[in-house]
Order: sequence, then structure tokens, then C-alpha cells
Amino acid sequence: MAPSVPAIFLFATLLAIPSQSRTLFPFEQQQLTREYVASLPEADRQLFAFDEQFGAQVESAADKPCRYNTTDGKWPSEKAWNGLAKQLNSTESLIKATPQASPCYGSDKNDAKCQDLAKNWFSPMLHIDDPTEVLSPLYQGLTCQPPTIFDSKNCTIGGYPTYVLKTRSVLDIQLGINFARNNNIRLIIKNTGHDFAGKSVGASSLSIWTHVLKDIQIIDNYVDDSGYKGPAVKAGAGVQAFELYKAVNDKGLVVVAGEGQTVGVMGGYIQGGGHSPLSSIYGMAADHVLGFEVVTATGEFVTANSTSNTDLFWALRGGGGATYGVVTSVTVKAYKDFRVSAASWTLNSTKLGTARFWAATQAFLDGANTYADSGVYTYFTIAPGPTGKEYTFSMKPLFAPNKTVTELNTVLTPYFKQLTGYNIPFSPKITEYKSFYQGWQAEFGPEMGSNVQTAVGSRLFPRSNFADEKSRNTTFNAIRATVESGQPVIAFNVAPTLARGGNPDNAVNPAWRNAVIHAIMSRSWDTKSSVAEILAVRKTFTTSAMQKWRDITTGSGSYLNEADRMEPNWQQSFFGDKYTRLLEIKKDRDPKNVFWAVNSVGSEGWAVQSVDGLPNENGKLCKVTTTADV
Ligand SMILES: Cc1cc2nc3c(=O)[nH]c(=O)nc-3n(C[C@H](O)[C@H](O)[C@H](O)COP(=O)(O)OP(=O)(O)OC[C@H]3O[C@@H](n4cnc5c(N)ncnc54)[C@H](O)[C@@H]3O)c2cc1C
Ligand SMILES: *[C@@H]1O[C@H](CO)[C@@H](O)[C@H](O)[C@H]1NC(C)=O
Ligand SMILES: *[C@@H]1O[C@H](CO)[C@@H](O)[C@H](O)[C@H]1NC(C)=O
Ligand SMILES: *[C@@H]1O[C@H](CO)[C@@H](O)[C@H](O)[C@H]1NC(C)=O
Ligand SMILES: *[C@@H]1O[C@H](CO)[C@@H](O)[C@H](O)[C@H]1NC(C)=O
Ligand SMILES: *[C@@H]1O[C@H](CO)[C@@H](O)[C@H](O)[C@H]1NC(C)=O
Ligand SMILES: *[C@@H]1O[C@H](CO)[C@@H](O)[C@H](O)[C@H]1NC(C)=O
Ligand SMILES: *[C@@H]1O[C@H](CO)[C@@H](O)[C@H](O)[C@H]1NC(C)=O
Repeated sequence: MAPSVPAIFLFATLLAIPSQSRTLFPFEQQQLTREYVASLPEADRQLFAFDEQFGAQVESAADKPCRYNTTDGKWPSEKAWNGLAKQLNSTESLIKATPQASPCYGSDKNDAKCQDLAKNWFSPMLHIDDPTEVLSPLYQGLTCQPPTIFDSKNCTIGGYPTYVLKTRSVLDIQLGINFARNNNIRLIIKNTGHDFAGKSVGASSLSIWTHVLKDIQIIDNYVDDSGYKGPAVKAGAGVQAFELYKAVNDKGLVVVAGEGQTVGVMGGYIQGGGHSPLSSIYGMAADHVLGFEVVTATGEFVTANSTSNTDLFWALRGGGGATYGVVTSVTVKAYKDFRVSAASWTLNSTKLGTARFWAATQAFLDGANTYADSGVYTYFTIAPGPTGKEYTFSMKPLFAPNKTVTELNTVLTPYFKQLTGYNIPFSPKITEYKSFYQGWQAEFGPEMGSNVQTAVGSRLFPRSNFADEKSRNTTFNAIRATVESGQPVIAFNVAPTLARGGNPDNAVNPAWRNAVIHAIMSRSWDTKSSVAEILAVRKTFTTSAMQKWRDITTGSGSYLNEADRMEPNWQQSFFGDKYTRLLEIKKDRDPKNVFWAVNSVGSEGWAVQSVDGLPNENGKLCKVTTTADV
């Protein structure tokens, strides 16, 4: 039984509720109060109470070995779920999750609908705008894909959530967190579903979906108590890169956000650090945060900035999504717009011959320190062709913020000279744009969605790998061997050193500060492969192909937002020496692990027991008793 609240305690907590004086979006002003919860009938109080609002929680999640699932008899009743729906901003906000490809199977089979879905399956918006779907369904367990993409044989819910809460207010988020925590059920957060490792899905869960939180406010003369004076923008958790860039461009401004068009800037992206076409002049996206609004594991809505909740402020800037709370909006610095120039080109071994192709590729890689230090950001691929004996290097693009075409040509002159020396004809497409937005829109290609058969891993290559000829040779030879043994490489040449980000003390992986190349490799398998075959491919990928990169970058790390789900020693790799403090903050702020995602800070105490033995979210989330259980 929940004891009644002593009047004095209620009074004190009411005072602690943040005042309305700070700039909150309308959706942030609709909040759950302790007073309101205390006014509810007893049964509802138990569902929606803030953590330990009435003393110890009736059902203490902390003591249970697993989160409850839909069939173990402990799952909340229909009545409880209806009770949640009734409290929400709109009763339509609680959605019973249905796999998107359900028209492809079962009694409601609709072939025309299914074919239509299959045709668009690789277009990301199809999944981003869906309450349930994610861009790497591989980690959902592939239990309901269109059969021409992957034969799921049947359509079951698998690792998709059970309910999705389409949040329209802070109130909704508080109710969702309190409900999940008080009932010992798994809570996940999905924004766009871009996550590479399955962190935005989970079986038998309630999913907090932040996608419709689209408010944007531009503040021309923001004054932060910590000393920043200048333009800033506050954006809701659901705002995507294409929306944010457009909004600030209309005011002659730019912000540090990603190259990917549909990435959710204020969700996983910025909380995981965030690399940007502007990172070689401005550092990481997280370096520019002035404050977060966030609902914590206890259900409280707080501001985290340089003077309030400074532990959260530090951790949320690089410590990763789904760990410390549900962020509802983020305020970031904005800068005056500038022109940009960009160059793109492709070289291939069929045309050049293998030796000249690799010489040209090495010539480019050798300049990694120089290009990044000149302020440019490059996005390039080195990929084997269909026969595996031909290779393509594709620069798409080399992006030069705040540079004219003349200045860009100066940066590339040494490379041009080398190519001429190798007798390689070279005619890159070079363009100057009058604004960042124009250049970004024109130069970065469309995104691909829906990973059903590919392992991905990445490594941050420090500048010491390019400092002398011996190191450059070693690095180039490793990358060449990666491609020649069948793994395509996508790489970014970028240097978000501390000085460039304004020297912030935050949780961004320290490996980023010495890095000049963030390189991703991948390995695909046949969709018909057996579990044993997939596990074998994955093991070779992680412990052999990826290990060759780790071996030549000792002490560096990997970017947590674009990494291998099987990354060994991920605590060091994703967080470096920041991990100790991040873990302390996690234990202090979320001792019950209300927020859990694979390879996130503090996640090592729990694991998903996947039903098929593959690394995915299709199974119960349980505590691990020994560290050998991974
Ligand atoms: C096509 C593509 C392009 C990309 N481009 C870039 C790039 O240019 N630069 C770069 O750095 N990265 C890039 N990424 C990686 C990207 O940063 C990550 O996938 C990131 O996690 C996406 O965040 P999201 O919120 O959009 O995705 P989601 O998958 O919805 O969420 C990612 C993680 O953050 C959590 N989360 C989401 N919203 C919140 C919230 N409001 N509060 C707390 N936790 C939350 C989720 O639970 C999950 O763990 C790209 C990825 C793709 C697929
Ligand atoms: C839901 O939230 C929005 C945003 O704050 C608000 O405008 C709207 O009035 C709310 N609706 C209800 C039914 O509370
Ligand atoms: C729930 O967990 C039990 C074991 O505790 C398992 O037998 C059952 O299959 C699970 N149900 C679902 C839907 O995951
Ligand atoms: C498909 O899944 C449903 C729901 O789990 C189940 O009832 C049915 O038996 C399955 N059908 C086949 C052919 O496996
Ligand atoms: C941090 O947020 C609090 C609460 O909104 C506010 O009073 C304070 O001024 C902010 N601090 C800074 C440095 O802006
Ligand atoms: C390589 O170049 C040749 C000659 O220009 C061209 O025909 C071929 O399509 C190119 N291959 C690739 C994979 O781009
Ligand atoms: C942009 O270039 C101008 C002139 O070259 C320089 O003065 C300015 O500092 C640059 N801005 C940034 C943000 O690098
Ligand atoms: C680096 O590689 C080049 C080309 O393969 C070779 O000529 C050179 O001797 C190597 N340098 C060192 C220091 O290993």
C-alpha cells in the first residue's frame, strides 16, 4: 500500500517544480505534477507515481531478474494500458505496434500492398515516419519483412515494441516513463530509428516515440549565464537535419549538425557526439550545446545546462542516447552563414589499372592531417566492384566550409600534383555555393534504409597514423587489405579537435580529439544464411577484419553511433577515460536501469536473451549474473 504523502513533503516538491520562466515550448509546458498523481485513485497512483513518490515503489523494478514480457503473466492488464491512454495528451497517442510489413503475411495478406512496401523498402522515410520500424531491422530479428527483401515466413512482433507512445507533450513522456518503471517493463526510445545497432527497438517494450516533437525556435541574441552571447536555436527532439538546416538558413545562420539528411539531430546524434560537415572548423555537434530539457528516470522534467544539473549536462554531451533520460529539446549555438565549396570525383581500377589506382588512393589518404587541419570534411568510399577484383574510390564530396573554389584548389594542389606525377587524368567536379545549406543539399547524396544482412564496424584513426611515411604506409596497407578482402569502406576525413569546438569539457569520446579519419567497414551475407553461418561471418568480421584496424590504432576508439554491435571492450572504445564518470552518473541518476540500450553506459548488467541466438533485440531483457554471459 502506498502511504499518503506528508503535506510538508508535497509542498517542498511542488516548489522544486521548475518555474515557467525559462523558454519552454508549448509541448514542454504540459507537465505531470506530483500533486496531480497524488489526486488520482489508488490504482492509478501506482501506475503513474514518480519514482518513490509514495515511499518505496510497490513493484520495485530493481529486484526483478528480468523485465516482464507479454506472456509471462505479469504484463500490465488491458485496463492498465487503457488507463495510460486516458491520461495522455491524446488517447490516440498510445499505439498498439503492428509490423509495417504485416500485409505480406497471414490472414490479412494483401499482395498489392506488400509489393508496394517492398518497392519502397530501401527508402528511409517509409520507416522513419512509421511508429514501429527502424532502419536496421536486422536487430529487430527480421520477424516481419517483405518476402522479396527477407523471407520472414510469418509476421510476428519479434523485437518490435508492444506499444508505442507517440509523445505530444512532456506530460506524455513522464507518464510513459513512470508507467514502465512502476510496472517493470522495458522502456525504449525511438526518434528516427537510424541507430546502427538496434538501440531504438526492443521486444515486449513500451517505446517513447519522439518524432513529432518538431518545434524550432531561433534566438537572435541568446545570453547564457556562462558567458555565451550570440545566436542560438532551440529544437525539439524530433527535428531532423533537413528541417533544422532549413530553419536556420532562413535566418542566415548555420548549426553544427550531421551530413545525413534525415538523422534526428537532437536525439541519438547529438547525445552521441555528432560529426558534421563543419567539424573540422567547429568540432563535434555536442560541443555546441547550451542546454537540454530532459525527463529523467524518476519522471522529473529538468533543465541540464552549465549551472543546473551539471552532471547530466556533461553526460548528455557525448555519453550516448537512451541512457540518462528522454531529451525533449536542445539549445545549441548557431553561427553566421558562409559560402562553401565542394569537390567530387571518382577513380577506378578498371580504368587506371590496379597499381595506379592504389597509388592514387594512397596519395589521398597520405594528406589526411593536412586536409582536416585546413578545415575541410570529406566523405569518401573505397569499394570492391562486383567481381571483387576491381575497385572504386569515390569522393562525394570533399566539403570546404567557408572556402572559395580558389581556396579549395589550394588545399588540393599537392594531391593534384601527385596524380599528374602518376599520369592519372583528373577532372573533379568543383562547385562554390553561396550558403552552407545550398552546398549541403546539393552535395550529400540520398540515404539508404533497411539493413537486413550487413555487419558494420568503425575505427577512429589518430593523426599519428599519418605523421610519418612508415605510419602512412602501415595505415594505407591495412585499409587496402580491408577492401581487397571484400569489405567496402566508407570514411570521413575530419578533425574535431578540442580547440575547434571551443574547448568544452564534455563526455565526447576522447579518441575523436586526436582523430583525422573516422572509417567504417562492412560485411554482408546472404539473406538465406543459417544462424551458424551468420555468427561465423560476424565473428570473423569483429575479431579479424576489424581487429586489423584496432591493431594499428592502439588506444584509440570507435564512434558509438556508427559502430559494431559486437565491439569488444566497448566501454573503452566508445567512451575512453570518460567511462568511469559516465558510469557514476548513470548509477546515481538511473539506479534502476529504467533506460537500457545495448552497449550504452551501464548496460553491462543486463542482456537480451535473443530467441534465435543472433545478436538482436528479439528476446527478454534480463540481468546477467556473471560477466561470462555475453
Ligand atoms: C543515413 C545515416 C546518416 C548518418 N549521418 C551521420 C552524420 O552525418 N554524423 C553523425 O555523427 N552520425 C550520423 N549517423 C549516425 C547517427 O548519428 C545515429 O544513427 C544516431 O543514433 C541517430 O539518432 P536518431 O535519434 O535519429 O535515431 P534513433 O535510432 O531513433 O535513436 C538513436 C539512439 O538515441 C536514443 N534516442 C533517440 N532520441 C532520444 C531522446 N530524445 N532522448 C534520449 N535518447 C534518445 C535512442 O533510444 C537510440 O538509443 C547517420 C546514420 C545514418 C543511418
Ligand atoms: C496536447 O499538447 C499540445 C502541445 O502542447 C497542446 O497544444 C494540446 O492542447 C494538447 N492537447 C490536449 C488534449 O491536452
Ligand atoms: C516471455 O518469457 C518467457 C520466459 O520467461 C518465455 O517462455 C516466453 O516465450 C516469452 N514471451 C515472449 C513474447 O517473449
Ligand atoms: C504465425 O504466427 C502466428 C502468431 O504468432 C501463429 O499463430 C501462427 O501459427 C504462425 N504461422 C506459421 C505458419 O508459423
Ligand atoms: C540553466 O537553466 C536554469 C533553469 O531554466 C536557468 O535558470 C539558468 O539561467 C540556466 N543557466 C544558464 C547558464 O543559462
Ligand atoms: C570504371 O571506369 C570505366 C572507364 O571510364 C567505366 O567504363 C566503368 O563503368 C567504371 N567502373 C565503375 C565501377 O565505376
Ligand atoms: C571564414 O573565413 C574568414 C576569411 O578567410 C575568416 O576570417 C573567418 O575566421 C572564417 N570563419 C570560420 C568560422 O572559420
Ligand atoms: C612506403 O611505401 C612506399 C611505396 O610502397 C615505399 O616506396 C617506401 O619505401 C615505404 N616507406 C617506408 C618508410 O616504409
